[in-house]
Amino acid sequence: MKTETTIAGLRAAIRAARKAGKSIAFVPTMGNLHAGHITLVAHARRQADMVIASIFVNPTQFGANEDFDKYPRTLTADSAMLAEAHCDLLFSPEAREMYPDGRSQPTQVLVSGITETLCGASRPGHFTGVATVVSKLFNIVQPDMAFFGEKDYQQLAVIRQMAQDLCFPVEVVGVPTVRADDGLALSSRNGFLSPDERKTAPQLYQTLCSLRQAIQGGQRDYQALSGAARLHLGKCGFEPDYVEILRQDLSPAGVDDNRLVILVAARLGSTRLIDNLAFDLP
Ligand code: PAJ
Repeated sequence: MKTETTIAGLRAAIRAARKAGKSIAFVPTMGNLHAGHITLVAHARRQADMVIASIFVNPTQFGANEDFDKYPRTLTADSAMLAEAHCDLLFSPEAREMYPDGRSQPTQVLVSGITETLCGASRPGHFTGVATVVSKLFNIVQPDMAFFGEKDYQQLAVIRQMAQDLCFPVEVVGVPTVRADDGLALSSRNGFLSPDERKTAPQLYQTLCSLRQAIQGGQRDYQALSGAARLHLGKCGFEPDYVEILRQDLSPAGVDDNRLVILVAARLGSTRLIDNLAFDLP
């Protein structure tokens, strides 16, 4: 696997691949890779001639009081995992390569509407940082397709909207969430959990499953259900941010809707965890 750290170097490698007629699949990440990321690479590997992954801890998607400085940076181990997954090329730029004028570059990509709720409500500016960096990466890599995890459900919706609105010729592909045996969605932030918190963390997925079961059993008072779930999470030791039952396009769900998603965000100690469960009613 080759590694490029400059936009010029990456573009030269991509030009050569395009000249040879290769299709390109792209997997953007912030590193500290786990089996969830590697599943994205495996999906990409099956669908294109060339797989490009990026590792860039994007400063513009972290708020002032968030974990940018302590976000785990494990480039050597990450490179080994990508090579083993048969990734062809890794792009791992420094911040000044991506943001030569500093993090507050004049041009930003704002996806209004869906970025104002859920994680966008408690992380103002986060999705603008995500949409901006993914736009830049799409323009640098110019892939045929790009792979994103359904674990970050709202992020996937934002990127789909952005790709459609800005006419990126990129097929955005969602990949199901990879979980630990006890149900906890794999996340780079799980490493911040203390042993006790790690034991509590699977309650997040348990809560989603219980809610799904209640809805499949005919319950339709979504406010009452999410209120009870928030209380339950509080009793388990979480500080819930939101529990929402919505339509899969993230608009409000009515009693007759049958394509639903339950989304949850909660803090456990100082670690913010998110998860979701999408399902169709018969
Ligand atoms: P990061 O958190 O590193 O995630 C990179 C990709 O891996 C995202 O598409 C995310 O949804 C996916 N992913 C993470 N955990 C997963 C799991 N358990 N199962 C399946 N997929 C999983 O998301 C970002 O980075 C950044 O916001 C980024 C899009 C790279 C922009 O900076």
